[in-house]
Amino acid sequence: MSAPTPTLTAPPLVGPLRIGPHVSQTPVVLAPMAGITNSAFRRLCREHGRGFYVSEMVTSRALVERSPESMRLVGFDGDERPRSLQLYGVDPATVAAAVRMVVAEDLADHVDLNFGCPVPKVTRKGGGAALPWKADLFRQIVRGAVREASRGGLPLTVKMRKGIDDDHLTYLQAGLAAEQEGAAAVALHGRTAAQHYSGQADWEAIARLKETVTTVPVLGNGDIFSAEDALEMVRRTGCDGVVVGRGCLGRPWLFADLEAAFAGRPERHRPGLRIVAATIRRHAELLAEFYGDELRGCRDIRKHVAWYFKGYVVGGDLRARLGLVESLENLDELIATLDLDAPYPGAPAEGSRGRAGSPQRVALPENWLDDQHLTGAAAETIRQAELSVSGG
Ligand SMILES: Cc1cc2nc3c(=O)[nH]c(=O)nc-3n(C[C@H](O)[C@H](O)[C@H](O)COP(=O)(O)O)c2cc1C
Repeated sequence: MSAPTPTLTAPPLVGPLRIGPHVSQTPVVLAPMAGITNSAFRRLCREHGRGFYVSEMVTSRALVERSPESMRLVGFDGDERPRSLQLYGVDPATVAAAVRMVVAEDLADHVDLNFGCPVPKVTRKGGGAALPWKADLFRQIVRGAVREASRGGLPLTVKMRKGIDDDHLTYLQAGLAAEQEGAAAVALHGRTAAQHYSGQADWEAIARLKETVTTVPVLGNGDIFSAEDALEMVRRTGCDGVVVGRGCLGRPWLFADLEAAFAGRPERHRPGLRIVAATIRRHAELLAEFYGDELRGCRDIRKHVAWYFKGYVVGGDLRARLGLVESLENLDELIATLDLDAPYPGAPAEGSRGRAGSPQRVALPENWLDDQHLTGAAAETIRQAELSVSGG
C-alpha cells in the first residue's frame, strides 16, 4: 500500500485583517465614498462578503453640532459589526470632540480619519490631502483622536494620499507619525492630490509605506477593479489588506469575488441582467428606507444605474428614463421592459469605472508649501476649512 499523496495547499497570500480588536478573515475594506457608502449600499456589499465597510465621511464639526444630515450618516444597521465611521476634520480640538462624542454615545466601533480629499474647495483651505503637509498639525489631530478613541477601546485609522504632488510627498512621514501616535492601521491611496483620479495608482508607494510602517497594518488603495487586481496588489506591495472604492460601484458582488479570491477559491460572480435589475430595485428600496423618502431614494439610485448597467445591452432611451426615475413603481415598469434573460456580457462589464478625470493644479492656501509647520496665517485659514465639505 502506498502512502497517501500529501495535498499541497498554497499558503494564504495574506492573513486575516486586524484593526484593533476587530478581525476580518477577508482582508478587505469598502472605501468610504461620500454620497455612496451609506447604510443602504453597505448592506448590499456586506451581504456578499466579510470585511470592513466604512461609512460616508462625516465632518467632525457637523457631528459635534449634530446637524441632521450628519446624524443620518452616522446611522448603522443593527447587524453592522464593526461599525466603521469616517470623520473628516482639520482642527485637533474639533476632531477630538467628535471622537469623544462617538465614544460617549456609542456611535461606532472604529473611526477612520480622512486625509485624502483632493477637492479644490477643501485643499484651498488646507484640508484633506493638503493637511499632512503641515506635519505638526497632522500629528496633533491623530494624537487627539487616538486618545479619545482609546478611551472607548475603539481603533483609530488614517486614510491618506501620497501627498500634494510629486514634489510634495507626505505619505511616509504621515504614515510614521500615525503609527507613532497610536493609529491602528494606515491606508494609502496611491495618488497625489494633483492626480485626482487620473493615471494609475502607484502601488510602489504602497510597498514603500509597508516597509516604513512596520507595527500596524498597511492597507493599499487605488485601482482595484477585480478580485484579481486585489491579489496582485497584495503580491506586489506586501500590504495587509486592500481598500476598494470605485470597483464596487454598481457591483456589490465584487465583495463575494474578493472573499473567494483571498480564500483561494476560483468562483466569481458573473450576473445576468435579471440579477443586476433585482439588485438595482433592492438598492432603491434600501435608499428609500435610508432617507425615509421614496422620491429621495429614487433620485439617489439614478446615479448608480449607469454603473450597474456598464457593459450590459440596455438601450439609451431606457437608460435616460431610468435616469429620471421618481418612484419604485416607475422603476419596476422600466425594469420590466428589459431583456432579463440577457447573460453577463463579459469584458465590457469589467475594468475601470467611476471617476477618472485629469491631473489638476492643487488649490492651496497662500504660501502653504513654504513651511511644514502651521504658522499664524495658515492656522486662521484652516479654521475655515471644515465648512461645506463632502467627498474624497
Ligand atoms: C464618489 C467618491 C466619493 C469618495 N468619497 C470619499 C470620502 O468621503 N472619504 C475618503 O476618504 N475617500 C473618498 N473617496 C476616495 C475613495 O475612498 C478611494 O480612496 C479612491 O476612490 C481610490 O480607490 P479606488 O481606485 O478603489 O476607487 C471617494 C471616491 C469616490 C469615487
